[in-house]
Amino acid sequence: MGKKGLNRRSFLKKAGVVAAATTLPLKMVEVVYGNEPEEKFTFAVISDAHLTHIQGTKFVRNFDEGLKRAVTEVSFMDPPPDFVVFGGDLAQLGKKEELEHGMEILSQLEFPIKFVIGEHDFYLDLGEYWVKNISPLYYSFDHKGVHFVVLNSILTYEQWIKKFKDPMERMLNMARLDNPHGSPFIVGEEQRAWLKKDLAKYKPDTPVIVLSHSPLYKIFKPWNFWTDDAEEVQALLGRFKKVTVMHGHVHQIIYNQIGNISFYAFMSTAWPWPYPPTYKQAENNFPKMTVMMNRADPFHERDGTGWSYVDVLRGRVTHHYELWENRARTVYYDEKLGHPVDKEYQDPSKRIPPQIHY
Ligand SMILES: [Fe+2]
Ligand SMILES: [Fe+2]
Repeated sequence: MGKKGLNRRSFLKKAGVVAAATTLPLKMVEVVYGNEPEEKFTFAVISDAHLTHIQGTKFVRNFDEGLKRAVTEVSFMDPPPDFVVFGGDLAQLGKKEELEHGMEILSQLEFPIKFVIGEHDFYLDLGEYWVKNISPLYYSFDHKGVHFVVLNSILTYEQWIKKFKDPMERMLNMARLDNPHGSPFIVGEEQRAWLKKDLAKYKPDTPVIVLSHSPLYKIFKPWNFWTDDAEEVQALLGRFKKVTVMHGHVHQIIYNQIGNISFYAFMSTAWPWPYPPTYKQAENNFPKMTVMMNRADPFHERDGTGWSYVDVLRGRVTHHYELWENRARTVYYDEKLGHPVDKEYQDPSKRIPPQIHY
């Protein structure tokens, strides 16, 4: 890690002293500040590792190194995260070897891990290994006043699944980016019914954070940056005042606001996807973006890759993107504007190209 990273870490250390909050019992914090509970906490995010098995004990080294680096950096976080979210696509082709290898690397983390499944983990055995050895496909939990929901958003239609007799053929047809033979993702009826029931227990002022792999909105269909029943899921979240959806899959920094929901994407530890080739909204149903993002350099193996940590204060999210070959970025929810805002990159005409050039 470079000098800048170390400086930032030592800053975090100092900040940690001020808000010794995190280590004090919540009630003491209330006494100290005399108003509403701080409810401040941090979790880390690692996503889209795409570990790729070659043969025997051999794996594609570059992707292994990405995941290992993220695990090491998260381990050094100070103050430490309350938990780590893994955003899906641990494996490249859903192989047992890849998932086992990934779990071995992630086992170095001394924090609880909340797992989200990606399509690369799912379409070989339809989630069998994942459910048996890693995590349920969808679930919810409460943490310091925030209700978290994990969804399996990479399901698809039965008729598409039935087309394939060979599991690897099915996997390969879902794994590509620009694949005319893939199928749009769905959350599906069963999970939406579960979600409705799960949310019914909570009042509208409970902050809700939803974790999914594919975006729960429609970004770009040709690349399956897309969830077909996204609007129906959004509607179930409609009565809550503070809703954040965080997702993997797109391997790039994208954030957005649709109605009451703020969306933030995770980066990948393996490679960045470029932004879709067009921002023409009418043709691709691309929603209005709040701010244009920096574009990753697809010819730079580490541009746009990294991990992130998320500060949650009173149910609102501040997303710190730790990019390995770019400047760190911080995107926070602006209460006045009512949508996520990048702390630095606001004026496209003044934007500094973020890539390092040789
Ligand atoms: Fe991915
Ligand atoms: Fe994915």
